Amino acid sequence: MVPERVYAAMSKPVVGHLDAYFFQVAEDVRNLLQTVFGTENAFTMAISGTGSAGMEAAVANFVEPGAKFAVLANGFFCDRISEMGKRYGGDLVRLEKPWGEAFSDQEAADFIRAQKPQVVGFVQAETSTGVFQASKAICDAAHEAGALVIADTVTSLGGMPVQIDANGIDIAYSCSQKGLSCPPGLAPITLSPRALEWLRARTTPRRTWYLDLKLLDEYYDGAHRYHHTAPISMFYGLREALVAIAEEGVENRWARHCRNHLALVAGFEAMGLRMLVAEGVRLWTLNTPRVPEGVDDLKVRKRLLAEHDIEVLGGFGPLAGKVFRVGLMGPLSSEDNVTMLLDAFEACLRAEGYQPPASGREAAQAFYAAQSQ
Ligand SMILES: Cc1ncc(COP(=O)(O)O)c(C=O)c1O
Repeated sequence: MVPERVYAAMSKPVVGHLDAYFFQVAEDVRNLLQTVFGTENAFTMAISGTGSAGMEAAVANFVEPGAKFAVLANGFFCDRISEMGKRYGGDLVRLEKPWGEAFSDQEAADFIRAQKPQVVGFVQAETSTGVFQASKAICDAAHEAGALVIADTVTSLGGMPVQIDANGIDIAYSCSQKGLSCPPGLAPITLSPRALEWLRARTTPRRTWYLDLKLLDEYYDGAHRYHHTAPISMFYGLREALVAIAEEGVENRWARHCRNHLALVAGFEAMGLRMLVAEGVRLWTLNTPRVPEGVDDLKVRKRLLAEHDIEVLGGFGPLAGKVFRVGLMGPLSSEDNVTMLLDAFEACLRAEGYQPPASGREAAQAFYAAQSQ
């Protein structure tokens, strides 16, 4: 959901891609992104393109041909980053986990110590499953092994603490259209000083031109040398979205996402829906209740859209037909939306023959009431 003020900012007159005003906007975006990323990294910018462009920039710049690339694989986007690693010539090794589970610190560290890779990749917020992957142990083990760490923060940035510096993440990318509440089109990215030093010292040719971070750095920073024509209106929109986050306060925003997620889960559980993901490793931005036995999830979702104007996604891959995927991010993450969704969900489940044992709305309201005491 995109706030009105972001649409308004995007409708402002466009300046040239080498205009001093544009570079001022890009500089504001950098400063504001540092706060949501939780980093002091000087190399923090927004790349033209969606989240996958951020992913590809990370892989293309840091996975050299022949380099061992170790991926912690527990969902769809772990497969995408693996595929990119292979295409850029990396020697891919994977530690697998069933979709819906997180890696323990020990499992991740043992794998990294045994493999001794040059680069480690993992997805902090796996949108296909609703799992949050803790980052610190992965980064500690990777640094011990001399590896750089790439983290996918597409579904965490702006909705949950990403904490780049506290975790020691070297390279992180995200998107504009999820927790930042902007239209799709820009991919925030940040590099630690260590990653930047490595990039500057890289001697093997980089196979990407459009996503070459050294060239992009010369465009946005330093010499402001023309590289490509930046999507100016998207930068206006992203800056406004980030200003709105700064006004709310990033920690208040995380707390809001956490509170509404917990209320929604209380509602689902009261209705007899079990969560796919264990407590403690659930995303606050994307919730995955299991589809009750005997219910066709597609029918429920179609009904939700047709009768209540609410779009909920389904599971795919090994989770097809097994979970709902309910996004709760940005302005959507509110008490009113949680109770409205639970009412609509209950009505649609009943219409499809499932009888919830208790009211989801009442459970969510009891949760909110307990919080405010
Ligand atoms: C975890 C994760 N990584 C990467 C992507 C790719 O982002 P995009 O679709 O913006 O290219 C997505 C998209 O949903 C995602 O959820």
